[in-house]
Amino acid sequence: MEREIFESMGVEKGAYAAISASKAPYNTRMNPSNPIILVLYYSRHGATRKLAELIAQGIESVPGVDARLRTVPAVSTVTEALESDIPSGGAPYVELQDLAECAGLALGSPTRFGNMAAAVKYFLDGTAAAWLSGTMAGKPAAVFTSTGSLHGGQESTLLTMMIPLLHHGMLIMGLPYTEPALMTTASGGSPYGVTHWSGIDGDKAISDDEKRLAIAMGKRLADTAVKLQGAR
Ligand SMILES: Cc1cc2nc3c(=O)[nH]c(=O)nc-3n(C[C@H](O)[C@H](O)[C@H](O)COP(=O)(O)O)c2cc1C
Repeated sequence: MEREIFESMGVEKGAYAAISASKAPYNTRMNPSNPIILVLYYSRHGATRKLAELIAQGIESVPGVDARLRTVPAVSTVTEALESDIPSGGAPYVELQDLAECAGLALGSPTRFGNMAAAVKYFLDGTAAAWLSGTMAGKPAAVFTSTGSLHGGQESTLLTMMIPLLHHGMLIMGLPYTEPALMTTASGGSPYGVTHWSGIDGDKAISDDEKRLAIAMGKRLADTAVKLQGAR
């Protein structure tokens, strides 16, 4: 199904094959001169991570652009508790250097009480040096989220996640209604960014429309980063 979605979106067969055949996708810089789009997410149960991987596929459908998937550690009520340096699975933890090296950012979080998870906010609160030096200023950014209930705050989460990125001077991007899935979706997907309705038990699969929109968002972000190269 993913292959059909890619083909219907005009992504070349060769590019799809390269993406799906890659064993360590999105984490290795293939060509040091390629622009990198950082896909930074937090995910407790895997739904937001799936969106992140689809966005990365969309990014890597643009020739010459690499996606770099990164996550943030969970935060603890025992504030002195330390996570291991290496996550038990999924993407590596983000480093501040990733912000400097990227040409754009997709930032994702599960919805927590209509807002981003504390782990994502905690990471952002540690980016003052990047904010002061304008590291992210002028780079394109998009946001994504996953919720348990359909009207449980997808849009409020996306809109509030944009605020720190605006402080960083990033150029916020959404999805245009030229994406037909925005009109047909019966679950996630919004002009404010990519979303997934995971269901109360977190067991809903990502729908085809949600997939299309995640891939389209990645592609749009990568296309824009390429156009902006040299403009900053
Ligand atoms: C503390 C907490 C608060 C949550 N708040 C909301 C909420 O406001 N609205 C909602 O629809 N789902 C809420 N959820 C459910 C998660 O957003 C949902 O399960 C999400 O898909 C999990 O993403 P993940 O699989 O990437 O961890 C909450 C979950 C937790 C643990």
